[in-house]
Amino acid sequence: MSDLHEAILGWYDAHQRDLPWRRPEATPWGVMVSEFMLQQTPVVRVLPMWKAWMTRWPTPAALAAEPSGEAVRAWGRLGYPRRALRLHAAAAAIVEQHDGAVPDEYDDLLALPGVGDYTAAAVASFGFGRRHVVLDTNVRRVFARLLAGHEFPAPGVTKAERALAASVLPHDDSAAVWSVAVMELGALVCTAVAPRCDACPVAHLCAWRTAGRPTYAGPERKV
Ligand code: ADE
Repeated sequence: MSDLHEAILGWYDAHQRDLPWRRPEATPWGVMVSEFMLQQTPVVRVLPMWKAWMTRWPTPAALAAEPSGEAVRAWGRLGYPRRALRLHAAAAAIVEQHDGAVPDEYDDLLALPGVGDYTAAAVASFGFGRRHVVLDTNVRRVFARLLAGHEFPAPGVTKAERALAASVLPHDDSAAVWSVAVMELGALVCTAVAPRCDACPVAHLCAWRTAGRPTYAGPERKV
C-alpha cells in the first residue's frame, strides 16, 4: 500500500463517524436509502429519518407495497420530496425487474429511477464492495486539492478528473472503504471553507498545500 493510501485509510480508521449505513450489518437497500437521503440533506438530519424509514420499510418490497404518498409523507422535513417519489419508484422497479433484491451491478443500478452515476457507484461500492470510482462533492474537492493543486474542482466532472480518481483507486478489496474514507476526509477535515490542514493525514502529500493554497481561479462554480 502506498503512503497516500495508508495515511488516509489509517486516518479513517481512527476518525470515522459511526453511521448506521456504514456498519457491516447494513443492507444494500439501507445504503441506497441513505444515499437518496444524503443527496441534499446533512448527516445529522438524515440519521433519525433513516432509522425510522428502515424500521418501517426494511426492504424495497415493503416500500413498493405502499402508495407513493406514504413515502412522501414519511420523508417529512428532509426537503426535496421528489426524492421520496423517486425512491418509491426505484423500489417498485427493484421488485418488478430484480425480484426485490437491490442489483449489484453499476449498469442495473443506473437504470433505476432517480439513480445517477454517483448513487449507482455508491451503492455498488458501499453496498456490495465493488470497485468503482465514487465522485461526490467531498471526494472531488479532496482530489482537486491533493492531486491537482486546485482549491476546488471545476463545475462539471471531467474525463481527466475521473481518470485521476481512478488512478488512485485501490486494486484490492479496500476500494470501497477508500472512497468512503476520502469522502469522510472531505466532510471533516478538507472542508470547503476553512480546511483544517493541521489535522490532515496527507498534508505532506498535498499539491494544493505545497503550492501555498492558491485561491480558486477556475470557471464560476457553486460552493
Ligand atoms: N457514507 C456513505 N455515503 C455517504 C454520504 N453520501 N454522506 C456521508 N456519509 C456517507
